[in-house]
Amino acid sequence: MEGEVAGGGSELKLELERHASYLSVYGTDKDDYDFCKTEFLRMSGMYWGLTALELMAKSSRVPREEILEFIKSCQDKESGGISASVGHDPHILYTLSAVQILSMYDKIDVIDVEGVIKYITSLQLEDGSFMGDKWGEVDTRFSFCAVLCLSLLHRLDAINVGRAVEFVLSCMNFDGGFGSRPGSESHAGLIYCCVGFLSVCGRLDALRADELGWWLCERQLPNGGLNGRPEKLPDLCYSWWVLASLSMMNRIHWVDKAALEKFILACQDSENGGFSDRPGDMTDPFHTLFGLAGLSLLGNTQIKPINPTYCMPQETITRLKLEPQLLAL
Ligand code: FPP
Ligand code: ZN
Repeated sequence: MEGEVAGGGSELKLELERHASYLSVYGTDKDDYDFCKTEFLRMSGMYWGLTALELMAKSSRVPREEILEFIKSCQDKESGGISASVGHDPHILYTLSAVQILSMYDKIDVIDVEGVIKYITSLQLEDGSFMGDKWGEVDTRFSFCAVLCLSLLHRLDAINVGRAVEFVLSCMNFDGGFGSRPGSESHAGLIYCCVGFLSVCGRLDALRADELGWWLCERQLPNGGLNGRPEKLPDLCYSWWVLASLSMMNRIHWVDKAALEKFILACQDSENGGFSDRPGDMTDPFHTLFGLAGLSLLGNTQIKPINPTYCMPQETITRLKLEPQLLAL
């Protein structure tokens, strides 16, 4: 039935049209307080909103030429890296978001691709880890961003993949999970990054998949939502970080799918569109993408299939002939 979630039998309707309106209006008022406040992450904000619209097949509402011009103007000529907004410092997070948007639109040549490859390569350290930018913070998130970005450009050979894998594996904990650096506590967001990293590098065999799968599905709480660590509140974005990890590990059926669908649908603003972290909170494009992306992984056919490694429409990954590894059970 229209609007009903497959298998859930839930009374809550997925408000696709309202979500599309919410996202296409977001950012059109350049003086809006929320919009100004988020300038430091504008490029990623665009990736969240544009990917969500693409998943709903509503991209025709997007001013594509304006977006391409904006991305082009955010590339730093010297380092080759891309920033969140014009005049800001380049960072690997925003470089990945830009490459994801351009890959989705089949417009990668708008930027200096060799510059991006040079930038990412320059961020790898001797021990295989990656800095986020020239200021030197190291985190497994940046290892993920580096390999995702280079693989979208078919240039994974530009870095030392063996050492990069060694570093990420040195962040594996006793519970099978991963943190941001060696010895850091397991965290579902970083587990997604490390599992995604290993999926791109074809090394999912190195996971302790049963222990990790167990830790991940223990994140589900009685209200159906998922948290990112023990004792934390549920948060809609963890539907993505946890579910995508389980999906790459072929263990998505280890969560209660119907209960999670219900939680995700309850996070919608059914009047104004958009999703929030928890029912009744303020909506934002970040949680809107991860709400829709989570529903897609759960098999909702009103949304296009999403690739769990890349968090991009599967049709883009297929067109680019990328084959991220999925673990066999
Ligand atoms: C939680 O952060 C989430 C993470 C640590 C994962 C972030 C992943 C990326 C930046 C990689 C790019 C992602 C995609 C989808 C391509 P938080 O700081 O909100 O954690 P908290 O909930 O503990 O506060
Ligand atoms: Zn969240």
